[in-house]
Amino acid sequence: MLPPDSPYDGFADTFAREAAVSPYNARYDRPTVLGLLGDVSGLRVLDAGCGPGLYLSELAARGAEAVGIDQSADMVRLARERLGPLAHIRHHDIDTPLTWAADATFDIVMLTLVLHYARDRVRTLAELARTLRSDGRVVISTSHPTADWLADGGGYFDARHVEESWSGGMTHRYWRQPLQAWFDEFTAAGLTLERLVEHRPDASMARTHPAEYEKLANQPGFIAFQLRKQGRTA
Ligand SMILES: C[S@@+](CC[C@H](N)C(=O)[O-])C[C@H]1O[C@@H](n2cnc3c(N)ncnc32)[C@H](O)[C@@H]1O
Repeated sequence: MLPPDSPYDGFADTFAREAAVSPYNARYDRPTVLGLLGDVSGLRVLDAGCGPGLYLSELAARGAEAVGIDQSADMVRLARERLGPLAHIRHHDIDTPLTWAADATFDIVMLTLVLHYARDRVRTLAELARTLRSDGRVVISTSHPTADWLADGGGYFDARHVEESWSGGMTHRYWRQPLQAWFDEFTAAGLTLERLVEHRPDASMARTHPAEYEKLANQPGFIAFQLRKQGRTA
């Protein structure tokens, strides 16, 4: 069964152009997540919500054997164009089981700026963890709960589905929740939090985007987590 239409369909080209160079993606999220991933040479990596393949091309350059999946047909097309015909990129919705992936296939599952879209994050994470080797890791980046709270208002502890209109006309719907709820969901999915990183802007941003640098050096925008399967034997 094909995934449902994605809000990113029709906006994928714009996202790809912007995310290649934007301060939030190129100088904030990617340096943080790539630092957390460390040496991936020879590792099998599942990039869930791979978008236009900006991480996939970094992973390939670093010697990883990566598989990308995304709900948006437009994003899948762009990722295939970027990575070439031999790349493993599938049109797949992370709200549904990965019936095509065997248990213990991957060393790393990564979800960058995507898990806040998942309807049932415990079910999604548990299913992704099934495809991990016993000593495998899950690496996640998402909006910092404080940033969502300041942007959306209400109480910090409110957990809800938020709808925003993005420039260009895309309707952005995501889940916001306090930090403890993220932690409880990881645990319920059978994962243990090993590292928590609050993003800091790359030093180069001070030169290229001084206003964004000033903001992000002083208040959090994104957060990253590294998780391990509970009961691993390694
Ligand atoms: C903000 S973009 C991030 C893309 C990429 N991970 C990156 O950081 O460059 C979010 C991506 O998640 C994908 N996405 C959203 N919901 C999804 C779902 N349920 N299943 C799979 N992909 C999803 C979107 O299509 C989009 O490509």
